Amino acid sequence: MKILGIESSCDDTSAAVVDMTAGGLAVLSNIVSSQIGIHRLYGGVVPEIAGRAHAENISGAVYGALEAAGAAPDELSAVAVTTHPGLIGALLVGVNFAKAFAFAHSLPLIPVNHIHAHTAAAYLLPDPPEPPFLSLVVSGGHTSFYAVDSYVSYREIGGTRDDAAGEAFDKVGRVMGLPYPAGAAMEELAFAGDLKYEKMISGEETAGRGKGRKKSKAPRRISDLPSPALREGLDFSFSGLKSASLNYLHSAQMRGESVDTELFASDFTAAVASGISSKIAEALSVSGFSSLVLAGGVAANRHLRAAVATECERLGAKLFLPPVSLCGDNAAMVAAQGVYGYRNGMSADLYVNASAYD
Ligand code: KG4
Ligand code: ZN
Repeated sequence: MKILGIESSCDDTSAAVVDMTAGGLAVLSNIVSSQIGIHRLYGGVVPEIAGRAHAENISGAVYGALEAAGAAPDELSAVAVTTHPGLIGALLVGVNFAKAFAFAHSLPLIPVNHIHAHTAAAYLLPDPPEPPFLSLVVSGGHTSFYAVDSYVSYREIGGTRDDAAGEAFDKVGRVMGLPYPAGAAMEELAFAGDLKYEKMISGEETAGRGKGRKKSKAPRRISDLPSPALREGLDFSFSGLKSASLNYLHSAQMRGESVDTELFASDFTAAVASGISSKIAEALSVSGFSSLVLAGGVAANRHLRAAVATECERLGAKLFLPPVSLCGDNAAMVAAQGVYGYRNGMSADLYVNASAYD
């Protein structure tokens, strides 16, 4: 069963063909046409420009994905498309293209929620999870826990009350002079900062040897950043972390002091990774599930992946991590969720509309 997936919710125009075989799901093609180069000039995604770029790229992405998969339209079982949430002008391009394609080839049209699709990236693993499980989606727009009761039933049990983790990476990174989107560049700086901290610790240990000094366990960080995990419940708040970070950077600038951006990126990344992973125990317990999927663009962050893996190991929970290449926006994950929508008879008529909201 071959499904064409279409994704255009933000700044990636993507189309993919995913095949459901007896051996599981296989990605036959996954074309991602990124608009980052255009939006970088403005320091973030400009919705009107995104919509126009999707309109220019969508046809090439869809027919390119069919060609790369060696699949003709009449070999498809359905067309799955992201209908929500996202930028409305961007979503409308994918939704209208999918409607026209489905009508022209008499195919069922399967509407897909973008956040559910991020989780569905895990179904493309060689050893995929089977519901029920807990999903933690960390992206540019979401930082949420979902109880995935079945392939088509997602219940949000916790989430951010303000900014999402990716948004915080991008906004803090921008003030540090990093190009949009800043997440991946912040992570590289953070690795360099981690090494510096390690050297500081081993330097302190060498200096203290024989003088009865205790071994340092954690580095003395240059900044004192708040955790994004709220004290109670399963919610997060990244606005406090973002403001504290911006205050730290701006105050140093006002004093004419330069900030060691590697050490600061290490502090910021550690605050995000430890804050997010600190809620996993409670989320697993509330959901009653024993396995977790970590998904979304920020799930590409190796600090977060490591912190979540350590926490799952401590809790004896099974962790499913989609490959980094499937964490960011792509249509293979939309097609993967579409396979299950199709199997559960969730097709829409041609009046289906896009929505900016969840
Ligand atoms: O899921 P995604 O591609 O789009 C949304 O649905 O929002 O996520 C994009 C976000 C951006 O904020 C980007 O900076 C962040 O994911 N991101 C990362 C990394 N790679 C992408 N954040 C931290 N570390 C990374 N390695
Ligand atoms: Zn996304």
